[in-house]
Amino acid sequence: MAIAVSELMPITDRLCGEHPWLGVAKYFFKVDSTQNRITQWLTKEADKAVLVIAETQSKGVGRHGRPWTSPAGGLWFTLGLSMGQLTPAQVGSFSVVTALQVTRSLKEVNNLECSIKWPNDIIYGDKKLGGILLTTTAKFKKPWMLIGVGINVNNELPSDLTDIATSIKLIRGQSQGRTRLLESLLNSIWQAWVDFPKTGFGPYQKAVESLIASTLGKPVQVRMGNRQIQGVLVGVDPHGSLLLQSDSGPKTVHAGEIVGLPS
Ligand code: BTN
Repeated sequence: MAIAVSELMPITDRLCGEHPWLGVAKYFFKVDSTQNRITQWLTKEADKAVLVIAETQSKGVGRHGRPWTSPAGGLWFTLGLSMGQLTPAQVGSFSVVTALQVTRSLKEVNNLECSIKWPNDIIYGDKKLGGILLTTTAKFKKPWMLIGVGINVNNELPSDLTDIATSIKLIRGQSQGRTRLLESLLNSIWQAWVDFPKTGFGPYQKAVESLIASTLGKPVQVRMGNRQIQGVLVGVDPHGSLLLQSDSGPKTVHAGEIVGLPS
């Protein structure tokens, strides 16, 4: 498959000039994981964002330590943002906000109506188009959020994933540019990061609920660590936590993931 592997390189060089809030932007053809590689670029001044993009990852990582297949042609990056005064619980809410912002960029740039599988799987139809991994770290005694975003754009999907995953190229029937999507994603995540400490999750609640609308009122299975619970999906609360009605009563899930959806 012919892919313009270098299209992300020139844009990375000019991103910092065009976005004063971005302190460092690095492009690599191959890394183990942008989530690892970024740590060496986190700066003493945590007021600016740090970006690492890779064309391919040899050890891309997904949520719960799962491998994330990252061949050339996808959009794989980690955006490092200062955690500032955010609490760990707020970081969890922000990961849901990030998913919302990703769906907004996919709508704006690629005209795709995506949904969210809580907390932050990006779904098109009933297949996974992308995912978000939000981890935290400390550097120079400052806490950082590392927002790893993976979107299947033009990359091939391994045969064992084609039933459950899709790509923008498969949806549109031809290869798509990645630079506009990258810039839109960076701007929308940054804007949410600026707003979120002032507003909290409240202003995003309705928009997130509308993106999980197809599963509202339906039974879902949710994994929380080693436990799984079932319940009818009621919505998200003003902190981004999942609200379920289970056989034993209402449940609020602060951390976990939906693993089963109704067919
Ligand atoms: C998931 O849905 O499990 C989250 C996937 C996150 C993948 C991205 S790709 C860029 C960044 N680097 C990684 O190794 N993982 C994240």
